[in-house]
Amino acid sequence: MSALETESELAKSAAAGGIDKQRYVRRIFSEIAPRYDLLNHMLSLNVDRAWRRRALQELAWQHHPDGLYLDLCAGTLDVAALLARQSGFDGQVVGADFAEPMLRAGQAKASRQVVLPVAADALDLPLSTGAARGAIVAFGLRNVADLDGALDEVMRVLMSGARLVILDFSTPRLAMVRALYEVYFHHVVPAIGGAVSGQSTAYRYLPRSVGHFPAPPELARRMEGAGFRRVRWYPLTLGIATVHVGERP
Ligand SMILES: C[S@@+](CC[C@H](N)C(=O)[O-])C[C@H]1O[C@@H](n2cnc3c(N)ncnc32)[C@H](O)[C@@H]1O
Repeated sequence: MSALETESELAKSAAAGGIDKQRYVRRIFSEIAPRYDLLNHMLSLNVDRAWRRRALQELAWQHHPDGLYLDLCAGTLDVAALLARQSGFDGQVVGADFAEPMLRAGQAKASRQVVLPVAADALDLPLSTGAARGAIVAFGLRNVADLDGALDEVMRVLMSGARLVILDFSTPRLAMVRALYEVYFHHVVPAIGGAVSGQSTAYRYLPRSVGHFPAPPELARRMEGAGFRRVRWYPLTLGIATVHVGERP
């Protein structure tokens, strides 16, 4: 088997939750970190920015503008920096991610007084129980090897009444949209992603990981299973992405 075939097999297996998904995910994000933002905005035609803004509106941070918030799987800190820039926000945002090169690539986006980048695993957060007024995870939960474990850990660090907002890709339900989406995600994204980052298998992992991520009703059930209440979800841009919201009792 060639190195490329081996990489492709690893991507397939990691997306399905096999091999050591955690190690694979940390490695690919560490490798693509310098080109991550450029590719994100390019491949989504900048729609990702609007999706993050929409998801952030669900965090209800205005109720406690001076609180501590968690941006989980923060990557290059886009969501954390967006929250830090909101007019009236006077709190702090912990941006937790286990791929340090991603955090480093984004650290100039916000003041260190407001955004605190932390190298940490989603399954073992360095926050005390009930410390956070809210948590948001954008395009991250799909990559975590133990989804239920991560939901439990977020539940632990949230205060009573605090929200968890999840933004992630989903598979569109309309057949025509789905067909276009499949071509784009399975062919265009790996081609452009590979050419720009030099890591085509990382960009093959992306569509596969979406395919293996629970569909929105199932993710809502898993949130409820972890103890979240008032769980709701809605699609964005014809179901290419979905926002889930839940609350800690
Ligand atoms: C697609 S990026 C999303 C980054 C950012 N939230 C955004 O909106 O662009 C996914 C991130 O999840 C991180 N990640 C995956 N599994 C993780 C885990 N178990 N603990 C911490 N971070 C994790 C990866 O390192 C990566 O930076």
